[in-house]
Amino acid sequence: MPKASRRKKLFKSFPKYSQVGWTLLHPIAFSKKYFFYDKSKRDICQIIAEKDDMYAGDKNNYFGVGESALKNVLISLDLANKKKVTSILDFPSGYGRVMRYLRDEFPEAGITACELEKDAVDFCVETFGAKALYSDKNLDNLEVDDKFDLIWVGSLFTHLDKHQWPPFFDFFYEHLAENGVLIFTTHGRRVIKRMVEKIYDYGIPKEKIPTVIDNYKKTGFGYASYPHTDDYGISISTPAWAFAELEKYKDFRIVLFSEHAWDNHQDVIACKKEQLR
Ligand SMILES: C[S@@+](CC[C@H](N)C(=O)[O-])C[C@H]1O[C@@H](n2cnc3c(N)ncnc32)[C@H](O)[C@@H]1O
Repeated sequence: MPKASRRKKLFKSFPKYSQVGWTLLHPIAFSKKYFFYDKSKRDICQIIAEKDDMYAGDKNNYFGVGESALKNVLISLDLANKKKVTSILDFPSGYGRVMRYLRDEFPEAGITACELEKDAVDFCVETFGAKALYSDKNLDNLEVDDKFDLIWVGSLFTHLDKHQWPPFFDFFYEHLAENGVLIFTTHGRRVIKRMVEKIYDYGIPKEKIPTVIDNYKKTGFGYASYPHTDDYGISISTPAWAFAELEKYKDFRIVLFSEHAWDNHQDVIACKKEQLR
């Protein structure tokens, strides 16, 4: 009897362990499914825009953050059982720190770059073949007809006060295709710990830090604006606080929550637009 048939017969007699049996019978398929991230096979665009603030001179860090985002995207899509991705919204795209990885993974997909910074959108159009969506602080002014299979929101909510979150969730919900997946990041328990232990001030004025910590402890949400602005800064939220926002949407199924999963720093939450049964 050929080796494979012998193994098949063996595992047939242990239906309880069928997943284990399947794994051992299909080692290549298994490794593809669960160890899908093969760095050596990737051909990631190496051009970094001069104006990209996300690049602080450390290429390993810059590309590591993009790679980590893609890992989270792939795991989330897998958990959501989302097999086909033909349209992607990267909001905010910046200068494509993550988009270069999305482009490599989904070469056929249409990718839309949305940013307040016009030059960043233009860079993504020229470099990654993205479709432009010039953002506006008032989301009502954004004209978008498309629906997306995947919406990646890397480090947007991390800069917004709590009253700014719901309009974005509404927008993403509206523009997610049926069975589409929204993946966004938040500052959570790792970030508050770093702030409490004075490891990093995240660029907010020192005198505002105690209030951020205090509000976080009391309500699950803390925020302070950067100097010279009142609508952009640093937010920190507990998982429970973020989930309560999501629960307002009855057709969002949370498929992943992982603390500091993005670059060992920001929390990652993924939800699929589908009717809860
Ligand atoms: C921390 S950066 C992250 C950029 C990108 N996701 C990345 O990982 O490189 C946050 C970005 O959000 C953009 N942003 C803030 N508010 C926005 C809005 N309402 N619409 C679009 N982009 C916005 C800022 O211009 C900034 O580039």
